[in-house]
Amino acid sequence: MDSIIIRNAIVSEKAALEALQLRASLANEGDRAALLANPDAIEQPIEQIASGDVFVLELNGKIAGFAALIPKPDGDTELDGLFVEPDLRRRGVGRLLVEHCAQIALSKGSLNLCVIGNPHAEAFYLSCGFEMGGWTETRFGPGLLMRKRLLA
Ligand SMILES: CC(C)(COP(=O)(O)OP(=O)(O)OC[C@H]1O[C@@H](n2cnc3c(N)ncnc32)[C@H](O)[C@@H]1OP(=O)(O)O)[C@@H](O)C(=O)NCCC(=O)NCCS
Repeated sequence: MDSIIIRNAIVSEKAALEALQLRASLANEGDRAALLANPDAIEQPIEQIASGDVFVLELNGKIAGFAALIPKPDGDTELDGLFVEPDLRRRGVGRLLVEHCAQIALSKGSLNLCVIGNPHAEAFYLSCGFEMGGWTETRFGPGLLMRKRLLA
Protein backbone atom coordinates (compact mmCIF):
# COMPACT_ATOMS: atom_id res chain seq x y z
CA MET A 1 0.00 0.00 0.00
CA ASP A 2 1.28 3.51 -0.85
CA SER A 3 2.24 5.88 1.93
CA ILE A 4 1.26 9.50 1.24
CA ILE A 5 2.25 12.50 3.34
CA ILE A 6 1.67 16.19 2.61
CA ARG A 7 3.90 18.49 4.63
CA ASN A 8 5.51 21.92 4.52
CA ALA A 9 8.57 22.18 2.30
CA ILE A 10 11.83 23.09 3.99
CA VAL A 11 14.35 25.66 2.77
CA SER A 12 17.05 23.06 2.08
CA GLU A 13 14.70 21.50 -0.52
CA LYS A 14 14.76 24.59 -2.76
CA ALA A 15 17.06 23.05 -5.41
CA ALA A 16 15.20 19.73 -5.42
CA LEU A 17 11.87 21.52 -5.89
CA GLU A 18 13.25 23.62 -8.74
CA ALA A 19 14.59 20.48 -10.43
CA LEU A 20 11.16 18.87 -10.10
CA GLN A 21 9.52 22.02 -11.48
CA LEU A 22 11.84 21.90 -14.48
CA ARG A 23 11.15 18.21 -15.19
CA ALA A 24 7.40 18.74 -14.83
CA SER A 25 7.35 21.83 -17.02
CA LEU A 26 9.54 20.34 -19.75
CA ALA A 27 7.08 17.47 -19.98
CA ASN A 28 4.54 19.96 -21.41
CA GLU A 29 5.62 19.61 -25.04
CA GLY A 30 4.36 23.06 -26.10
CA ASP A 31 6.31 24.82 -23.30
CA ARG A 32 9.72 23.23 -23.87
CA ALA A 33 11.26 25.76 -26.26
CA ALA A 34 10.19 28.84 -24.27
CA LEU A 35 11.38 27.27 -21.05
CA LEU A 36 14.78 26.26 -22.39
CA ALA A 37 15.22 29.81 -23.71
CA ASN A 38 14.24 31.32 -20.34
CA PRO A 39 15.73 29.12 -17.60
CA ASP A 40 15.21 31.92 -15.04
CA ALA A 41 11.48 31.10 -15.19
CA ILE A 42 12.23 28.15 -12.92
CA GLU A 43 12.49 29.51 -9.43
CA GLN A 44 11.09 28.54 -6.07
CA PRO A 45 11.73 31.55 -3.82
CA ILE A 46 13.31 30.72 -0.48
CA GLU A 47 11.08 33.31 1.25
CA GLN A 48 7.97 31.47 0.07
CA ILE A 49 9.27 28.17 1.44
CA ALA A 50 10.35 29.80 4.71
CA SER A 51 6.94 31.41 5.14
CA GLY A 52 5.26 27.99 5.14
CA ASP A 53 3.39 28.48 1.87
CA VAL A 54 4.97 25.59 -0.06
CA PHE A 55 3.68 22.04 0.40
CA VAL A 56 5.24 18.82 -0.79
CA LEU A 57 3.57 15.48 -1.27
CA GLU A 58 5.75 12.50 -0.42
CA LEU A 59 4.77 9.24 -2.04
CA ASN A 60 6.48 6.28 -0.39
CA GLY A 61 9.09 8.60 1.12
CA LYS A 62 9.99 10.50 -2.07
CA ILE A 63 8.78 13.92 -3.17
CA ALA A 64 6.22 13.35 -5.93
CA GLY A 65 4.98 16.92 -6.32
CA PHE A 66 4.60 20.29 -4.68
CA ALA A 67 2.34 23.31 -4.60
CA ALA A 68 2.90 26.93 -3.59
CA LEU A 69 0.41 29.50 -2.33
CA ILE A 70 0.34 33.29 -2.22
CA PRO A 71 -2.23 35.31 -0.27
CA LYS A 72 -4.03 37.79 -2.52
CA PRO A 73 -4.84 41.37 -1.44
CA ASP A 74 -8.58 40.66 -1.77
CA GLY A 75 -8.41 37.84 0.79
CA ASP A 76 -8.48 34.99 -1.74
CA THR A 77 -5.49 32.68 -2.13
CA GLU A 78 -3.51 32.15 -5.32
CA LEU A 79 -2.23 28.71 -6.25
CA ASP A 80 1.11 30.01 -7.42
CA GLY A 81 2.66 26.76 -8.59
CA LEU A 82 1.77 23.08 -8.87
CA PHE A 83 4.13 20.48 -10.24
CA VAL A 84 4.07 16.69 -10.30
CA GLU A 85 6.91 14.35 -11.32
CA PRO A 86 6.22 13.44 -14.95
CA ASP A 87 6.42 9.68 -14.30
CA LEU A 88 3.90 10.00 -11.45
CA ARG A 89 1.19 11.84 -13.36
CA ARG A 90 -2.40 10.61 -13.29
CA ARG A 91 -2.04 9.02 -9.88
CA GLY A 92 -3.98 11.67 -8.01
CA VAL A 93 -0.96 13.60 -6.69
CA GLY A 94 -2.03 16.92 -8.23
CA ARG A 95 -5.60 16.55 -6.97
CA LEU A 96 -4.43 15.78 -3.40
CA LEU A 97 -2.19 18.86 -3.44
CA VAL A 98 -5.07 21.04 -4.67
CA GLU A 99 -7.35 19.67 -1.94
CA HIS A 100 -4.68 20.36 0.69
CA CYS A 101 -4.16 23.91 -0.61
CA ALA A 102 -7.93 24.48 -0.63
CA GLN A 103 -8.08 23.45 3.05
CA ILE A 104 -5.19 25.76 3.94
CA ALA A 105 -6.78 28.66 2.03
CA LEU A 106 -10.13 28.06 3.72
CA SER A 107 -8.49 27.95 7.15
CA LYS A 108 -7.05 31.40 6.41
CA GLY A 109 -10.47 32.79 5.55
CA SER A 110 -10.25 32.76 1.74
CA LEU A 111 -13.46 32.33 -0.22
CA ASN A 112 -11.68 31.19 -3.39
CA LEU A 113 -8.54 29.39 -4.47
CA CYS A 114 -7.44 31.10 -7.70
CA VAL A 115 -4.96 30.05 -10.35
CA ILE A 116 -3.52 31.41 -13.57
CA GLY A 117 -3.46 28.06 -15.25
CA ASN A 118 -1.36 26.70 -18.05
CA PRO A 119 -3.76 25.77 -20.88
CA HIS A 120 -2.19 22.27 -20.77
CA ALA A 121 -3.72 21.87 -17.32
CA GLU A 122 -7.28 23.02 -18.09
CA ALA A 123 -8.85 19.54 -17.88
CA PHE A 124 -7.00 18.91 -14.62
CA TYR A 125 -8.23 22.12 -12.99
CA LEU A 126 -11.81 21.58 -14.18
CA SER A 127 -11.73 18.10 -12.72
CA CYS A 128 -10.55 19.58 -9.39
CA GLY A 129 -13.57 21.89 -9.23
CA PHE A 130 -12.12 25.09 -10.68
CA GLU A 131 -14.30 27.25 -12.92
CA MET A 132 -13.13 29.27 -15.89
CA GLY A 133 -13.11 33.02 -15.36
CA GLY A 134 -11.37 34.18 -18.55
CA TRP A 135 -7.92 34.61 -19.98
CA THR A 136 -4.88 36.70 -19.15
CA GLU A 137 -1.51 37.30 -20.77
CA THR A 138 1.53 35.76 -19.10
CA ARG A 139 5.21 35.89 -19.91
CA PHE A 140 4.79 32.63 -21.83
CA GLY A 141 1.48 33.23 -23.56
CA PRO A 142 -2.18 33.02 -22.62
CA GLY A 143 -3.08 31.87 -19.12
CA LEU A 144 -6.41 30.57 -17.83
CA LEU A 145 -8.00 32.61 -15.05
CA MET A 146 -9.64 29.97 -12.91
CA ARG A 147 -11.04 29.80 -9.41
CA LYS A 148 -12.35 27.18 -7.05
CA ARG A 149 -15.00 28.27 -4.59
CA LEU A 150 -14.13 27.11 -1.09
CA LEU A 151 -17.58 27.45 0.47
CA ALA A 152 -20.73 25.79 -0.87
C1 LIG B 1 -1.17 19.44 -14.19
C2 LIG B 1 -0.56 18.45 -13.19
C3 LIG B 1 -0.20 19.17 -11.90
C4 LIG B 1 -1.63 17.36 -12.90
O1 LIG B 1 -1.11 16.50 -11.87
P1 LIG B 1 -1.52 14.94 -11.79
O2 LIG B 1 -1.01 14.41 -10.51
O3 LIG B 1 -1.09 14.25 -13.02
O4 LIG B 1 -3.11 15.03 -11.78
P2 LIG B 1 -4.13 13.99 -11.12
O5 LIG B 1 -3.62 12.60 -11.27
O6 LIG B 1 -4.43 14.43 -9.72
O7 LIG B 1 -5.41 14.21 -12.04
C5 LIG B 1 -6.70 14.43 -11.51
C6 LIG B 1 -7.67 14.48 -12.67
O8 LIG B 1 -7.37 15.61 -13.51
C7 LIG B 1 -7.64 15.26 -14.88
N1 LIG B 1 -6.39 15.29 -15.63
C8 LIG B 1 -5.13 15.32 -15.13
N2 LIG B 1 -4.23 15.37 -16.14
C9 LIG B 1 -4.94 15.37 -17.28
C10 LIG B 1 -4.57 15.38 -18.66
N3 LIG B 1 -3.28 15.45 -19.04
N4 LIG B 1 -5.54 15.35 -19.59
C11 LIG B 1 -6.85 15.28 -19.22
N5 LIG B 1 -7.26 15.25 -17.93
C12 LIG B 1 -6.31 15.30 -16.97
C13 LIG B 1 -8.24 13.85 -14.85
O9 LIG B 1 -9.64 13.98 -14.71
C14 LIG B 1 -7.61 13.29 -13.59
O10 LIG B 1 -8.36 12.23 -13.04
P3 LIG B 1 -8.18 10.73 -13.65
O11 LIG B 1 -6.70 10.47 -13.77
O12 LIG B 1 -8.86 9.87 -12.62
O13 LIG B 1 -8.86 10.73 -14.98
C15 LIG B 1 0.68 17.73 -13.78
O14 LIG B 1 0.33 17.19 -15.04
C16 LIG B 1 1.89 18.64 -13.98
O15 LIG B 1 2.73 18.79 -13.07
N6 LIG B 1 2.02 19.24 -15.17
C17 LIG B 1 3.19 20.07 -15.51
C18 LIG B 1 3.22 21.37 -14.75
C19 LIG B 1 1.96 22.16 -14.96
O16 LIG B 1 1.50 22.37 -16.08
N7 LIG B 1 1.41 22.60 -13.82
C20 LIG B 1 0.24 23.44 -13.83
C21 LIG B 1 0.71 24.86 -13.89
S1 LIG B 1 -0.67 25.99 -13.93
